[in-house]
Amino acid sequence: MTTAAPPAWSELVEDLAERGVLAQPWRAAFLAVPREVFIPEVIWRYVGDDLVPLRRGEEPAEWLARAYGPHYVVTQVDDGIPAGPQGQGQVPTSSASRPDIVAMMLAAGRLEPGMRVLEIGTGTGYTAALLAHYLGARNVTSIEVDQKLAAQARTALERAGYGEVTVVTGDGARGCPEAAPFDRVLSTVASPRVPYTWVAQTRPGGLVVTPWNSAYKPAGLLSLTVGTEGSATGGLVDTTISFMPLRDQRIPRPAVADVVREADIPERSDTDLHACDLCNDDAPFAIALSVPGCHWIYEPASGDDGRWCVWFLDPTTRSWARFDYQPDTQRWPVHQFGPRRLFDEVTTAYHRWCHAGQPPATQWRFTITPDGQRAEF
Ligand SMILES: C[S@@+](CC[C@H](N)C(=O)[O-])C[C@H]1O[C@@H](n2cnc3c(N)ncnc32)[C@H](O)[C@@H]1O
Repeated sequence: MTTAAPPAWSELVEDLAERGVLAQPWRAAFLAVPREVFIPEVIWRYVGDDLVPLRRGEEPAEWLARAYGPHYVVTQVDDGIPAGPQGQGQVPTSSASRPDIVAMMLAAGRLEPGMRVLEIGTGTGYTAALLAHYLGARNVTSIEVDQKLAAQARTALERAGYGEVTVVTGDGARGCPEAAPFDRVLSTVASPRVPYTWVAQTRPGGLVVTPWNSAYKPAGLLSLTVGTEGSATGGLVDTTISFMPLRDQRIPRPAVADVVREADIPERSDTDLHACDLCNDDAPFAIALSVPGCHWIYEPASGDDGRWCVWFLDPTTRSWARFDYQPDTQRWPVHQFGPRRLFDEVTTAYHRWCHAGQPPATQWRFTITPDGQRAEF
């Protein structure tokens, strides 16, 4: 069953266009592609921390409002096998992205009709349909790791009239060498390291646009221009958006108890650097890029003595540090344990960034070569 898009959708599209979020060439695509064809009959909504199914057959109005709403729609949980009690989901593993974020990604792609595009993370197939509407379906290849989702996307694309889009089932980190080169690689899955294959499969002068994420929390959208020497350079064009990660590059957020043991004997020191300076504004970007694999968790005060702490955790090496805030002092105790001295690493990165004049995250230059990824200011 397909119904006409509710008026709320045209209003949303016009609003995005007026706010300058939806570049003009994409307005027509947003109005033409029927989003509900791509949204599965069962979607997921949060009730507290749990994801519970919402069935179109049972709540058609609510389903439709979400299909054409301004938020992202969770379309798969726990890689397709709900892991919570009573069929509830725990982690969203596929979604139809927020319309304004899709618009932002498309604008960042600086696409023109006729360009050949590889999309990483087909999901519902909705973004692939928008691309097909504007570029021509034959110019769009999309790759999805989940076989069932790829099959559903193929069906939806067919139903919406974009059956000539090529949907490949496979690991997007490998790209799609058999269809390369592309003018653009657009990823709708985040990664802390941009796979070099995406650079290698893009023509010189082409763009790789991908969400970037990190253990130390910051996320954003990277736009990289591919050069003639086989490398790509660029930077963050947005520092707010956050996408789900590539399946094999997930960064599970550890709990303190996963890393810290009662028997650990930490080293004690003092600092005059307030932990808030390490966790706010653009400092976390500088730290995330220099201190890979380090998570931080704020633990609020349990009593009314004004004390709280921040944990720094690396589950891979089982290293941890704890900053203990107490009021009425300008020096605070730090405890560190494990092969890495995480607090030292974090403060070194912070001071280096301060020394450079605290450049905003959008000023960092990323370079991707066959040898790996570099980021510098
Ligand atoms: C945010 S959703 C994509 C939204 C999609 N572009 C749309 O329009 O609906 C991310 C998708 O990436 C897929 N994915 C995760 N890891 C992947 C990988 N290594 N290769 C290809 N797809 C992957 C997930 O299964 C999920 O469907």
